[in-house]
Amino acid sequence: AVNKGNLNKMAERFSQKNLRVRPSSDEEKIVTNAKAHFEKTLVDISGELVGSVAALEHPTKNLKLNYGEIFLRDNVPVMIYLITQKRYDIVKKFLSVCLELQSTNYQTRGVFPTSFVEEKGKLIGDYGQRSIGRITSADASLWWPILCWFYVNKSGDYSFGKSQSVQRGIQLLLDLVLHPTFEGTPVLFVPDCAFMIDRPMDVWGAPLEVEVLLHGCLKSCIHLMELSRADHVSRLLDQRLILTSQWVEDLRSFLLKHYWVTSKTMQILRRRPTEQYGDDQHFNEFNVQPQVVPSWLQDWLENRGGYLIGNIRTGRPDFRFYSLGNSLACMFGVLPQAEQRALFRLVLHNRQHLMAQMPMRICHPHMDVEEWQNKTGSDPKNWPWSYHNGGHWPSLLWFFGASVLLHQKRFPTEDVILMEEMRSLVEESYWCQLNQLPKQEWAEYFDGPTGTWVGQQSRTYQTWTIVGFLLMHHFLREENNDLDMLNL
Ligand code: GLC
Repeated sequence: AVNKGNLNKMAERFSQKNLRVRPSSDEEKIVTNAKAHFEKTLVDISGELVGSVAALEHPTKNLKLNYGEIFLRDNVPVMIYLITQKRYDIVKKFLSVCLELQSTNYQTRGVFPTSFVEEKGKLIGDYGQRSIGRITSADASLWWPILCWFYVNKSGDYSFGKSQSVQRGIQLLLDLVLHPTFEGTPVLFVPDCAFMIDRPMDVWGAPLEVEVLLHGCLKSCIHLMELSRADHVSRLLDQRLILTSQWVEDLRSFLLKHYWVTSKTMQILRRRPTEQYGDDQHFNEFNVQPQVVPSWLQDWLENRGGYLIGNIRTGRPDFRFYSLGNSLACMFGVLPQAEQRALFRLVLHNRQHLMAQMPMRICHPHMDVEEWQNKTGSDPKNWPWSYHNGGHWPSLLWFFGASVLLHQKRFPTEDVILMEEMRSLVEESYWCQLNQLPKQEWAEYFDGPTGTWVGQQSRTYQTWTIVGFLLMHHFLREENNDLDMLNL
């Protein structure tokens, strides 16, 4: 048994040792201001609030671009925050408008728009035909059922969940996702730039974030279909439920088998046979050569750390660490609880990289000049240490923080020392944002090895920076029980 007094003392010592930021006496004032900024991001369509623009215009520079549109992914934290505030009308309106905009064109049937905007009284969705690089997002479509389930489950509006339009939307989406492919695997194959990282970063194929979202999406679709099944039995629906459940299981096993790495799995991987042809048992399906294992991985993993790598492709695993995909893998339960704690240990061990001066880094390590030239086509925003290429995004902290808090809530007696350290890490990261973000005008992202400088092309008063901070505050200070909503 663990002596509670000793434990508290130890936890205190840890947090004193690691405390790099000072609590601020302005907390209440800053939260009130953040709430006021957030209200300004909400826009209406025909008189009803529908969601938030991506960023408020810069007060002096008047930069517009498409940051005045309503992005589905940027509205994920917005909708979750509104659900915690019981402002259900806005969430329902947002879900309904997105559903109205779900594509019915032959080549994009079932796709939800990346963003939408009202122009001259008409709703216009962007399915890739308007964006720079003409990119179609996969994540927007995968988030919709997840948000829909969060809303239905928390508000109790089951009739919306069972409605014909919602059930039809789900079937359209499932048609798009669950079908035979040339790969013959349970992953969704996507081009570069298909998710939050929407500029070239060599993340095509089966990027972690998309696959973890697919897992959450399918689980949410199952919950929503079960609502409908409770009312009337249909053979078609039953078949869909069986297929979807099987797919979720296959996908999870695939991710755990091919993406999860620890010091131990790396040692096995490095000594596996290669060039295995034929039907016999094979140990190296993707024919990965030991030479591709990067040297930084050794210290990064240390003894007991683990994480899901960014992507797997024939002979070319992407060992970069992506914060969002890994956080969501905890939140949605792709990772079993022991693996979640291995991930926490890894973040703790590498906090000088991942949290640094502005939690948290989007992708580690960054690509240096030559690789950046080759892999991104010299994309000016993604130059070394900037934006998606090693930049720091304050909007990512709450995903990780909520995963830690949810874990602690669900398994309160497991590895208490580690979890106390994790809690102080989250707490300090929160203070770090609280002390800096108001001065830095709630910037979109930060540049450089320590994430200290405001991003070179960063928008200010970026919605998900503001609302991400408010969510972290909500889960830490206001209502710990709202974390349960995220547990799929
Ligand atoms: C940038 C980000 C993208 C975000 C958009 C609006 O394009 O890369 O993830 O959705 O800005 O904020």
